[in-house]
Amino acid sequence: MHGTVISASILNSDLSDLRSTARRVDESGAGWLHFDVMDGVFVENITFGSSVLKAVKPWSHAFFDVHLMVDDPSRQIKLFAQAGADSITIHAESSGDKLEALREIKRLGLRTGIALKPRTPAETVLPYLDLADMILVMTVEPGYGGQGFMTDMLPKISELRSRAPDKDIEVDGGINADTARLVKEAGANVLVAGTYLFRSDDMRAAAESLRNA
Ligand code: DX5
Ligand code: ZN
Repeated sequence: MHGTVISASILNSDLSDLRSTARRVDESGAGWLHFDVMDGVFVENITFGSSVLKAVKPWSHAFFDVHLMVDDPSRQIKLFAQAGADSITIHAESSGDKLEALREIKRLGLRTGIALKPRTPAETVLPYLDLADMILVMTVEPGYGGQGFMTDMLPKISELRSRAPDKDIEVDGGINADTARLVKEAGANVLVAGTYLFRSDDMRAAAESLRNA
């Protein structure tokens, strides 16, 4: 792990103009593009699937960071790999065989992640640690962008950092320059940010403020 990675969530970007979104993110220096995939079952909201990711791929140089908030992630893995995902994160609370899903992501040559909803205890990740390159700590309830950061997630981040010193720890939800400093102090090194980046007039400065928080 070298420094802080910024992953720009397209959820709260202008979804009618993803080509511009991809360009803005490339120009911002945020190296990762975060795709919040929701199926209306695991969470109430429905966003986009692998075909949208595939459409954006030619317009972006970013690392494609896919966050599957879907009930049965195993059905989506091959589709997202073929569409151009570089990393796929599945939820510990989703159904099906999660270990096998992580193995499949690895077999396809991608990086793997395991995500925890706010109320899921840190130790839930333990069975997955061998297979997961990254742990995603949700710092809002999954479903929507633009929510407030849950400060009570900070001890969970610290605990996971001490249990997994060599893994990437990603945080998702309510990240801005203030909360970025708190999560970095707790041990997170990959910061997802949607609203904060896309509402800023100068996305490069905003990404920099997260990196240097
Ligand atoms: C919630 C999503 C959001 C999103 C980040 O399910 O996962 O957390 O990426 O959005 P902001 O940065 O607006 O909280
Ligand atoms: Zn996300």
